[in-house]
Amino acid sequence: MEYLYLLATLLFVFGIKRLTSIRTCSQGNRLSELGMLVAIIAALLISDSINWTVIIAGVVVGGGVGLFLAKRTPTTKMPELVAALNGFGGVASALVAIGSVLTDSKLAEAGATISGLGVVPAIATPIAILIGMVTLTGSFVAYGKLSGKKLSHPFSGGARHAFHAVLGLGAIAIAAWMVTTESSGQLITAIILLSILAAVLGVFLVMPIGGADMPVVVSLLNSYSGIAGAFAGLVIQNPLLIVVGAMVGAAGLILTQIMCKAMNRSLSNVLLGGMGGDEAVAEDARDYKSIKQAGPEEIAMVLDGAASVIFVPGYGLAVAQAQHVVRELADLLIARDVNVRFAIHPVAGRMPGHMNVLLAESDVPYDLLWEMERINGDFKNTDVAIIVGANDVVNPAAREPTGPIAGMPILDVDHARTVVVIKRSLSPGYAGIKNPLFDNDNTLMVFSDAKEALEGMVREVKDL
Ligand code: TAP
Repeated sequence: MEYLYLLATLLFVFGIKRLTSIRTCSQGNRLSELGMLVAIIAALLISDSINWTVIIAGVVVGGGVGLFLAKRTPTTKMPELVAALNGFGGVASALVAIGSVLTDSKLAEAGATISGLGVVPAIATPIAILIGMVTLTGSFVAYGKLSGKKLSHPFSGGARHAFHAVLGLGAIAIAAWMVTTESSGQLITAIILLSILAAVLGVFLVMPIGGADMPVVVSLLNSYSGIAGAFAGLVIQNPLLIVVGAMVGAAGLILTQIMCKAMNRSLSNVLLGGMGGDEAVAEDARDYKSIKQAGPEEIAMVLDGAASVIFVPGYGLAVAQAQHVVRELADLLIARDVNVRFAIHPVAGRMPGHMNVLLAESDVPYDLLWEMERINGDFKNTDVAIIVGANDVVNPAAREPTGPIAGMPILDVDHARTVVVIKRSLSPGYAGIKNPLFDNDNTLMVFSDAKEALEGMVREVKDL
């Protein structure tokens, strides 16, 4: 059976590797799904006592709920779905650790303690419960924030950190009691208390973080769910769970790091509350002097003379669900021999890969999606850059030495000959600051919902 575990591990490793490129990512998903199937079969074959009714009910109910959610969730709600799935992963690991302790026959003997079972269960059991429950509730607070709910922490500054420290120390004390108690009644009480305290900690840790920073938090919680899984694997001594949990933990941490780098911020700055938040907006954020407004007809005329066009999708594209119509416009331009590409900023939108998911949904070919580093040098040779509901990721203020987004890598759209910005108003983006791009001589603003504006452009380009 070890060979099946090895096979599943390899499928996961190659699956994750294939996820690193747009071209191979759907294959990566398939490989990982196959890995999961092999892992489940191996686990079932290894067990000596299986309650098939429970297993089949679990597969039908769990699979049914998963299928329902996946089919029903629109791409705009994808970050919320990812957050919820992390939470389920975390609580599953906590439950595995709890179930293992409660059914361990050695612990049923008089005078037995978890620490008496060895160092590994003594350390791994409370950690799996603690991290698993923090992940559960933290993920659901993230879910709420991603869906626009305002949740504020009752404490601020030092009092907040002190409050978290008290909760954390309380959890450690209960964990110590849990692994040393000889009474089964006390063991159950300690497990319940530890679970509750960890759940409360998860809520308060995520509560003060700004809504738009949730993608970073979600990938961190994804990492936590992996770490919880690895510790649950140590509790039940399952090598596959340990390896896969560690892989998810490491991948989540690396992704968190990549996103922080793309926003030019440290993880502590995100977690302890830094830029943006939910309500910070600069006083001069709507203070523009020379805005040039245009409608779909003028833009079609600009496009008529263009040989190269780069679309820059942002959060507004997702909000407007304009992924299909942007593809339609791209197709029309390609048919007119225009060199069309899409420039993808690593943190455009509200979750890692948000723009890739949206554009993949409308079947934009992978070779048209260019990452920031690869395309940035090309804007200066591009006729038209069309920004669709993006703001911070194209804000030249990031090139200034100071300011909330100073140093954030941006797409150099202002180097294109003409810049078209589609958004509904002069409202700032997530960072809450003015975007000097809108005032530039070569910028045309189209104030409209992204889908409506693009539909208008499609009509006008067809009439050219
Ligand atoms: P934003 O800076 O948030 O700007 C999006 C713009 O879309 C808004 O200014 C809004 O302007 C416009 N918009 C909204 N609905 C629209 C609609 N229906 N039609 C047309 N336009 C619409 O987005 P971005 O440029 O994608 O930048 C993402 C931000 O999120 C960055 O600051 C980034 O650091 C942050 N962030 C991202 C991540 C990840 S992983 N993606 C993680 C953490 C933080 P109007 O209201 O005027 O229309």
